[in-house]
Amino acid sequence: MSHKRDVMIYSRYERFWHWSQAFLIFTLFFTGLAIHGTHHLVPFGLAVKIHTNAALALIALWVFTTFWNFTTGQWRQYLFKKGVFKVIRFYAWGILFGEPHPYKKSLQRKQNALQSLAYMTFMTLIGPALWSTGIAYLLYNSWSHYAWSTTGLWIVALLHTAAAFAMGAFVVIHVYMTTTGKTPLHYVRTMITGYDSIELSEVEEAYIEETKSAEMR
Ligand code: HEM
Repeated sequence: MSHKRDVMIYSRYERFWHWSQAFLIFTLFFTGLAIHGTHHLVPFGLAVKIHTNAALALIALWVFTTFWNFTTGQWRQYLFKKGVFKVIRFYAWGILFGEPHPYKKSLQRKQNALQSLAYMTFMTLIGPALWSTGIAYLLYNSWSHYAWSTTGLWIVALLHTAAAFAMGAFVVIHVYMTTTGKTPLHYVRTMITGYDSIELSEVEEAYIEETKSAEMR
């Protein structure tokens, strides 16, 4: 026998890093586009100042979160899982006809196979492309005397902008995906309160009640 119970699947730190990362990425995208010249809603000098400070805050947040992921064992949530194509088929087709989601959330498996793949791409490709080119950009004065610095800056700016647009695409898809739960705001509420309804076996339920290893309502 198994029951559905409200279990805290996103701890307080997890929710803190998620929302502060979201806020910093929005700030960086908005000020980055002002630096790029796409809009003039913020003066150039101010945009550079905000962009630099938000970038340093984001790098610090990423360092803490990487540490948190490894010390809590949460890094395992991001490992490759089988069934990616089933999830892709669901979002491209099944969702339109009310088919059930091909994957069930559990405490040990909070993300579906497509989510893990998307977050892994975010952490190993888009994130590092942004911070490495961003830091090279920040340190321009220390390499501007080299003969190749003009071409170098052009390459850094191009890669940084390309990675920023990849990040923008990620955010658009991510926000759309958050609306596909039981109700359009179900997943957003989960990331605010930390609680989601999870199917627990009798053994899991008794274990959590006994050890208090997760908060349960
Ligand atoms: C993570 C660390 C990051 C660092 C260290 C960083 C640093 C920088 C720097 C130094 C500049 C050039 C400012 C100037 O011209 O003086 C810049 C430009 C820019 N940044 Fe970032 N940034 C980071 C993250 C991001 C993120 C997350 C986004 C978007 C989601 C972004 C989007 C942009 C864009 C679009 C530009 C304008 C590029 C151009 O037209 O040359 N950046 N960034």
